[in-house]
Amino acid sequence: MRKKMVAGNWKMNMTPSQAVQLAGELKNTAVNDEVDVVFCVPAIDIIPVVNEVKGTAVKVGAENMYYEEKGAYTGEIAPDMLVDAGVEYVIIGHSERREYFKESDEMINKKVKKALEHQLVPILCCGESLAQREEGITLTFIKGQIEAAFADISAEDAVKVVIAYEPIWAIGTGKVATSEQAQEVCKAIRENIRSIYGDATADVIRILYGGSVNAKNAAELFAQEDIDGGLVGGASLKPEFANIVNYK
Ligand code: 13P
Repeated sequence: MRKKMVAGNWKMNMTPSQAVQLAGELKNTAVNDEVDVVFCVPAIDIIPVVNEVKGTAVKVGAENMYYEEKGAYTGEIAPDMLVDAGVEYVIIGHSERREYFKESDEMINKKVKKALEHQLVPILCCGESLAQREEGITLTFIKGQIEAAFADISAEDAVKVVIAYEPIWAIGTGKVATSEQAQEVCKAIRENIRSIYGDATADVIRILYGGSVNAKNAAELFAQEDIDGGLVGGASLKPEFANIVNYK
């Protein structure tokens, strides 16, 4: 019922010319009618990548966006700039932005709202640290992140959001969450959404898993009841990404 999605997060990799080459390679192999395929690329790569994938089913996403319309915010990118460039998705609240750029839950909520206002699909990230997991507060912590991110967002808008559960300890470490761990949290997130918005939203909203997803573990992860695909870092820069898109 929920269409699967596999989104690559290129992070701070690929110059514009490298980006065109990578997108050119992947656009012909990362193809699966049953999966929405998205390349989330650095801002400077957006326009060349949009041009490169034109005429294919690949969609392009940004990795970040500011929550104001325009003005004196040196270095930031506004939502209508993304839309005008051909972007349809935007990653919001990645743990690297929360940690290195001090993005708060409040800022993330403003970004989600602003993206929705502009018909951009937010890929909203959440996830616990290793310390939080070991303390046994994973589900409580993530519930807080979800409630904060969705504050004052209507059910009609909420259903458009794609949530990505990315345990921080699994990102870039090669230490993937087990399918049971990932399913447990993704299910809990769906229940959080159910208690805020009800069944119609909870049953339709997509929840991805991210953190050391590769061609070997994708099939088992994506087969879990509450996991609707993946947000892929390192492996999205390699030919392997096509195997993740074609996980079964
Ligand atoms: P890796 O797939 O490299 O662990 O990164 C996951 C991630 O942060 C995607 O947003």
